[in-house]
Amino acid sequence: MKAVVFHEVGDIRLDTVPEPRLEAPDDAIVKLTSSAICGTDLHMVRGTLSDMVPGTILGHEGVGIVEEVGAHVRNLSRGERVVIPSTIGCGYCSYCRRGYYAQCDNANPHGPLAGTVFFGGPKMSGPFQGLQAEWARIPYAQSGPVILPDNISDNQAILLSDIFPTGYFGAKLAGIQGGDTVAVFGCGPVGQFAIASAKLLNAGRIFAIDKVPSRLDMAKRQGAEIINFDAEEVVATLRDLTGGVGPDCAIDAVGVDAEMPSHGRAYENGRAQAALAAQELREIAPETHPRDGNWHPGNGPSQALHWAIEGVAKGGRVAIIGVYPPRDRFFPIGLAMNKNLRIMMGNCNHRAYLPELIRLVRTGAIDPSAVLTQERGIVNALEAYKAFDKRSDGWMKVGLKLAS
Ligand SMILES: NC(=O)c1ccc[n+]([C@@H]2O[C@H](COP(=O)([O-])OP(=O)(O)OC[C@H]3O[C@@H](n4cnc5c(N)ncnc54)[C@H](O)[C@@H]3O)[C@@H](O)[C@H]2O)c1
Ligand SMILES: [Zn+2]
Ligand SMILES: [Zn+2]
Repeated sequence: MKAVVFHEVGDIRLDTVPEPRLEAPDDAIVKLTSSAICGTDLHMVRGTLSDMVPGTILGHEGVGIVEEVGAHVRNLSRGERVVIPSTIGCGYCSYCRRGYYAQCDNANPHGPLAGTVFFGGPKMSGPFQGLQAEWARIPYAQSGPVILPDNISDNQAILLSDIFPTGYFGAKLAGIQGGDTVAVFGCGPVGQFAIASAKLLNAGRIFAIDKVPSRLDMAKRQGAEIINFDAEEVVATLRDLTGGVGPDCAIDAVGVDAEMPSHGRAYENGRAQAALAAQELREIAPETHPRDGNWHPGNGPSQALHWAIEGVAKGGRVAIIGVYPPRDRFFPIGLAMNKNLRIMMGNCNHRAYLPELIRLVRTGAIDPSAVLTQERGIVNALEAYKAFDKRSDGWMKVGLKLAS
């Protein structure tokens, strides 16, 4: 079968690999009909989320048809159409039972303390083969895939696999209450769903921060008040627009590939930080292979975090859903502590949110497919990766079509 395979940092290929087989009674085999490319995949190819095992199939977003199930999988049958949550949880440990699928005690072969298990991730996440492939083995399938109603299309369902639940998780972590003023850092696909979720939770005002015009435009179409960090100073602008107070809460939907301003006054004022940021990056990403304009790590790994913590109101809340690798130790703790902030963070517990979000899509309360701006066959996956990596105009979220 065809699959997108990680070879080394800066080198991914479309390879022909063996089809997966059932390996345990909890497994299912799914024939994928749709997958997608995510900002998390970009961190791995850029080298900012390191320790990938060569030969790992990338991708953790998938929709498909159940082909075969093991003896312990009683809730799925051949022919059923499912959305696959990105994280893998056993469903029976104390963490999974409380909805903390991202901290499952059993799914990680390296043990209960090794961290979140997801498809197509680094060594310590399993690794499990990913979903940018024609077929996939789904471990613990009795507590992962959810059967889709017929009136949810693949283009809607693929966004339920990871990024809509993650945006919603971020909005919940930020503790959004009706009327709150929210700042969302990053207007990529995850940021767009953080904005949509803040609206579902009745936020009063939403600020959206990025520098890519087409991404800011989509945020504005959702009703957000936009701030271009290359054109103005983020923290000062947030204060100016909120009577000097700042937003009640902030969501970091950027992660480790954050960038610093590249020109204008914000750039001049931030220059003193650039050397420090370069040092952080060397430690976080010891191996990078940018080439031909692709796979450049962000030049300010903690830039979005700094702005979120500095910009939020005192006593405010910060939710971190952008991904930072375990080796990253550059958190602005002093700034946060002295403002009495509440900070929540983590990998999404996708499976816990799926029933609720499926209901919202099924009833037409929200149509997530507006975020899916591009669709390509798997044979064009590498070009699609490159355009998404460059944040080319109009390349918001890229779906990969696998079969019909
Ligand atoms: N916690 C989870 O479970 C989970 C799940 C999925 C994705 N993620 C993470 O969410 C993050 C976003 O994912 P995505 O697919 O939207 O990625 P993306 O790379 O498409 O989007 C990131 C956006 O942030 C913007 N940006 C860069 N520097 C910034 C700064 N200093 N301030 C504000 N914006 C800045 C970029 O221009 C880009 O539009 C990634 O870190 C990804 O790994 C986390
Ligand atoms: Zn993803
Ligand atoms: Zn578990």
